[in-house]
Amino acid sequence: MINAGALLIRPWRRSDVAALVRHANNRKIWLNLRDRFPHPYTAADAQAWLELRAKDRGDPHNFAIEFDRQAIGAIGLELLTDVHRMTAEIGYWIGESMWGRGFATLALKAVTEYAFRTFPLRRLQATVFEWNPASARVLEKAGYQLEGRLRNYVFKDSRVGGALMYAKIK
Ligand SMILES: CC(C)(COP(=O)(O)OP(=O)(O)OC[C@H]1O[C@@H](n2cnc3c(N)ncnc32)[C@H](O)[C@@H]1OP(=O)(O)O)[C@@H](O)C(=O)NCCC(=O)NCCS
Repeated sequence: MINAGALLIRPWRRSDVAALVRHANNRKIWLNLRDRFPHPYTAADAQAWLELRAKDRGDPHNFAIEFDRQAIGAIGLELLTDVHRMTAEIGYWIGESMWGRGFATLALKAVTEYAFRTFPLRRLQATVFEWNPASARVLEKAGYQLEGRLRNYVFKDSRVGGALMYAKIK
């Protein structure tokens, strides 16, 4: 549980189903995430996600972003393996009705700090699709640095595009 201004960053609960579908079922969100994020995002998808999260043990990697007692988005860490085991990839989304209020930036700053404090990490990274300037801005506001542009790195919605690699190191 992390307090971040108006937000509470907390583990998922089975009771988040309706809020999750309400905010996640949005093509504009899907377009900026990996294809494993479903679209359309159904109640069954939400239930499957929440069942998985209910089985999580140890320090959490995946959080709901709560505002006004409702889950309005998600933020999570994927710990990489092998020689990349001191790196985690960070990903997030916010429901469209809540965009532009600084929430992604608040959540990213809080979880970045949590990740470096909790896990033996030396690097946090995010790959932003090149058509997503809002997320690049969020990463910059949270102190991440642009390291490069990965050409033809993404195949999304039937088109090939580049991605921006952002990272923060410890
Ligand atoms: C990207 C996303 C997380 C931003 O959430 P948010 O809560 O609106 O973000 P914040 O309010 O903290 O900051 C957004 C910043 O982007 C800027 N921005 C928004 N649209 C922009 C655009 N088209 N071009 C440039 N900057 C833009 C805002 O002005 C703001 O910057 P500012 O504070 O300097 O004005 C949200 O739009 C989202 O969930 N998108 C879909 C999923 C996604 O992209 N996830 C990240 C994958 S890497």
